[in-house]
Amino acid sequence: MRNYFMSYKQPTLIKAAVVGGGAFGEMHLRTFQSMPQVEVAGVFTLEPSRGAELCARYGGVSYESLGALVKDAGVDLVSIATPENHHREAFERLTSAGKAVYVEKPLATSLEDARAMRDCAGSGIAMSGHCLRFEQRLAVVFERLRGVRKHHLSFRNRRTRQEKETYGRVHPAHAMLCHEIDLSNAFAESPFARVMAMETRYSDGQVDGMTILIEYENGVTSCVEGGWYLPTQNGCIEDDFLSIVSALGVDEVKIPHQGYVHIGEKGLEIPNLYYGCTIHGMEYGPLRAAFDYMVNCLIAGTRPTVSTIADAYAAVELVEAALLSAREARWVKHEEITAL
Ligand SMILES: NC(=O)c1ccc[n+]([C@@H]2O[C@H](COP(=O)([O-])OP(=O)(O)OC[C@H]3O[C@@H](n4cnc5c(N)ncnc54)[C@H](O)[C@@H]3O)[C@@H](O)[C@H]2O)c1
Repeated sequence: MRNYFMSYKQPTLIKAAVVGGGAFGEMHLRTFQSMPQVEVAGVFTLEPSRGAELCARYGGVSYESLGALVKDAGVDLVSIATPENHHREAFERLTSAGKAVYVEKPLATSLEDARAMRDCAGSGIAMSGHCLRFEQRLAVVFERLRGVRKHHLSFRNRRTRQEKETYGRVHPAHAMLCHEIDLSNAFAESPFARVMAMETRYSDGQVDGMTILIEYENGVTSCVEGGWYLPTQNGCIEDDFLSIVSALGVDEVKIPHQGYVHIGEKGLEIPNLYYGCTIHGMEYGPLRAAFDYMVNCLIAGTRPTVSTIADAYAAVELVEAALLSAREARWVKHEEITAL
């Protein structure tokens, strides 16, 4: 009789670690832990007690320094989930040490950092955290419209005021609109030609939102708008929407809210089943799909072609153009940014 256990293909085991033990670093660890072809090597974060707590939950060791992680020859893949403006050092040191690196969005919050990271990504295996490219409906629309003439793109992003408390540490164009900007660039299939932007500001601290008009070199036009606009209370979750007008017609996707609501003591609750969804202990969603894709590249020895560092760099350039446009209330051409 055939022994099915013997005939199972043995997966190549990839050892993965995470830098940054905050909310999203923990999601990275939980996702890695649920992948059969990945073993969690550990985490490096600034607070050792948090590192120890995460290792107790997801396995691996709490590295005492970034250097200790860089030197661990057993680690194949590292994801970086430090705050938006603290990605560069870990990225440079890990890629230089030959590790495959997945770096959260945005690539960086300055052109200088983004350029240095783009340059040092070199011939290694690196990928950016614009994981909406792996959202299943968006991935279907990408396939359907690849190479099809697009006319106008429209992206709307509505996030809660609660998110501003954490991510208001940087401008919303860096913290959240970089997702829509990356999607806009990917759908346009062209470099941008010029950008006009304005900020929406109605509360203390960080700007609350931004609206960006984009014209691409191939004539495609796009509007990206969003901000931390939703109240902080139950029933208010992210409310994102995109509409792509092309030669094939119109494709529209409403991103969250998969039709499940819970009504209880706290009123109406809408669990987020779209981003990270745990099914019998396994994580699914765009992050898992992006990690699967990267691990498959690593095993095959190929370089990722989706959500690349070059793509993430292009998004940073467009954000910089939008910020300059808002500051000076004028259209900003792409060449002005490349000349900076
Ligand atoms: N892809 C997405 O949809 C998505 C969603 C949420 C957050 N993010 C991104 O993930 C990243 C992390 O976000 P978060 O919500 O976890 O933030 P967070 O503030 O909750 O966590 C950041 C963590 O990094 C640690 N840290 C800071 N500097 C460090 C350093 N130099 N070395 C090691 N650790 C360091 C902090 O101690 C903290 O534990 C950000 O870039 C954020 O924009 C992406």
